[in-house]
Amino acid sequence: MENDYMIKGPIFTGRTYQEYIQMFNLSIEKLKGKSILDCAAGASSFTPIMHSLGFDVKAVDTFYDKSPRILYQMCAEHLKVLKKALEKKGSYIWKFYKDPDEMFRERLKACKIFMSDYKMGKGERYIMADVRELPFPDDSFHLVLCSHLLYIYDHRLDWKFHLESINEMLRVSKGEVRIYPLVKEDGRKSIYLKRTLEHLQGKVDAKLERVDYIFRPSADEMLRLVKSLSVL
Ligand SMILES: C[S@@+](CC[C@H](N)C(=O)[O-])C[C@H]1O[C@@H](n2cnc3c(N)ncnc32)[C@H](O)[C@@H]1O
Repeated sequence: MENDYMIKGPIFTGRTYQEYIQMFNLSIEKLKGKSILDCAAGASSFTPIMHSLGFDVKAVDTFYDKSPRILYQMCAEHLKVLKKALEKKGSYIWKFYKDPDEMFRERLKACKIFMSDYKMGKGERYIMADVRELPFPDDSFHLVLCSHLLYIYDHRLDWKFHLESINEMLRVSKGEVRIYPLVKEDGRKSIYLKRTLEHLQGKVDAKLERVDYIFRPSADEMLRLVKSLSVL
């Protein structure tokens, strides 16, 4: 039944640290001394691992007012649904993960890593906020990341949502904003990507950059918005 593979409301899962490094072409060497914000971070292991490596990193998500127990249950449940859905769909590219089982195991591990750090950093490193209204002053972070919120859900999140989110991430960044992916689930470029590029023309340096990560078809590019020179 189709409903077995659908989640009502926002999906709360998280990609691994290694997926983030590849999706955003990050170099740990270049990031030394830089502050980072992950927007709509979910249960990713990126923030906990970067924190354990000594980086100044924060994460925001609208679900970060919930208890660790509720978030873990939600993440484990959503990962199970995602695994079932991926077993049915033939369009995914099994390169980063060899199959849905491996994806499930690795992302559940990421979720556990997230959960143990969330217990300690809730309210400090993990802040409940909407990406359209970030509780930080202008120019707070060298790098702002956003994975799997914009573009991919352009059937549910309208242009106003995209515009407000991008403007807000640019406001709190003093360096760059990086967004991934730029395509919808079936691999077609989001209808809002061209509009974003038109809107930003003459304001920031906006470029598409190839990344060494692919899971959904054609999802091998990120959007890199550079506000000022040589911050990263
Ligand atoms: C598909 S998950 C992606 C999580 C993580 N970034 C990753 O790539 O693994 C989308 C996340 O966006 C969060 N979210 C949805 N709407 C949001 C908003 N307006 N502001 C901040 N976070 C939001 C959800 O709670 C969920 O954790």
